[in-house]
Amino acid sequence: MQRWSLRVDPAWSLQAWRDAARQALLATVPPAQLDWLPGTEASLLDAPALPVPADGPALGAQPGVPRDFLELAATVLCHRDPQRMALLYRLLWRITHGERAVLSNPTDADVLRAMALAQAVRRDTHKMKAFVRFREVPGEQDAFIAWFEPEHHIVDRVAPFFARRFAGMRWAILTPGRSVHWDGQALSFGPGGQRQDAPAEDAREALWQTYYASIFNPARLNTRMMQQEMPARYWRHLPEAQLLPSLVREAAGRVQEMHDRPAQAPARRVPARVLPAPAVEGSLAALREQASTCQQCPLWQPATQTVFGQGPADARVMVVGEQPGDVEDLSGRPFAGPAGQLLDRALAELGIDRATLYLTNAVKHFHHERRGKVRLHKRPESRHVHACRPWLMGEIARVRPQLIVCLGATAASAVFGRGFTLARDRGRWHTLDDGTRGYATVHPAWVLRQGDETRREEAYRLFRDDLRQMLGRDEISAGHGPSLPAPGQR
Ligand code: URA
Repeated sequence: MQRWSLRVDPAWSLQAWRDAARQALLATVPPAQLDWLPGTEASLLDAPALPVPADGPALGAQPGVPRDFLELAATVLCHRDPQRMALLYRLLWRITHGERAVLSNPTDADVLRAMALAQAVRRDTHKMKAFVRFREVPGEQDAFIAWFEPEHHIVDRVAPFFARRFAGMRWAILTPGRSVHWDGQALSFGPGGQRQDAPAEDAREALWQTYYASIFNPARLNTRMMQQEMPARYWRHLPEAQLLPSLVREAAGRVQEMHDRPAQAPARRVPARVLPAPAVEGSLAALREQASTCQQCPLWQPATQTVFGQGPADARVMVVGEQPGDVEDLSGRPFAGPAGQLLDRALAELGIDRATLYLTNAVKHFHHERRGKVRLHKRPESRHVHACRPWLMGEIARVRPQLIVCLGATAASAVFGRGFTLARDRGRWHTLDDGTRGYATVHPAWVLRQGDETRREEAYRLFRDDLRQMLGRDEISAGHGPSLPAPGQR
């Protein structure tokens, strides 16, 4: 059987392989008669070079060669497997000889092999993008060199990524087989280099190691994943790899230490001085100031700060919630956490600007219980509501809203009195002694607690529709809140 040889140089070049494959197809040479020569390698079997044929269509221009195949070939050619070119030609031969859909057969042995090679190249490409570390060239400004040892012929494939990523600096990446250089304008490729051609270490290295050690979380250490993601062969390129053995060794002890350490309380912002019972005098700002040091009930102690009301001092509508949650306690703002976000969603859907409302709570400190590092919300007790009442009444007296919207039972009973029941009185208009109108609906946190998505959406609609009934959007947008509904109106 006559054998022919075909050279592909450079060995990873799709163009070079395409030209050779086209030549073989035009000459109708079956796969078994071809000896593929990568780069400058000589033919072991001493097969003569296949004669160059007269011009024919370019490979890929024939209707039978799918684009997918050329994309696959471009990737597979970067693999070091010496059989890759023969494999690709075999697939091409089959595609052009009656098996056009062979690539869509995932159980075909040739297809499986090609896919596996492509996958290995993609993985190597990913590793090179992740693990190349540039070091500054001593004595030169903004010039960097990296040494890397890829498994496959991927330098040409990855170089454009680095050109985009580090467009503003001059750099070179040296590998044993090939080097690439970026001068800020264009990429150029050259022969391979040696590890010692790249600087060993630069001043940034120590900085990088310090940073790495500080972000290393021993509690999340997973050595199996780590080795999978960062195989040992890449370690020598990585400054942080020198730290890994000791970080890994010490991880268990550090985790234990973290468990044993008592939970750290958030930085206290409540000044530690005891005030007499609230004077509840002066402006809203003065009231806020007084409340910031309130110690009328024990809730001040574990809390970060008093979360006072927020909003225009002449708002037409005051919204009263139960108490601050974890996020509110840390930020000092009412309705800043998940319940607040749900309220925001409803307001947005109703076209109501949150900034026009005065938002506050029946209780101004976060009542919670610590479980490890988590602070679990606890309902405020009536003594807490009672202790905070002067602040809430002080806010109502100063803002003088036309309408008070109570969210949840705690807020409603703080405003309307203990006889109020949400189940019975939700959605009814109430009048306070001073003539202020009030209305209560469910709390957004109750909506969030509904078990499944459908029930949550149902509860949300109820909440939003109640708000719509209270806060007619035309009236709201006209000023700081709606005008009063007619007495007796539901
Ligand atoms: N729940 C409330 O009742 N008030 C807030 O401020 C946050 C959550």
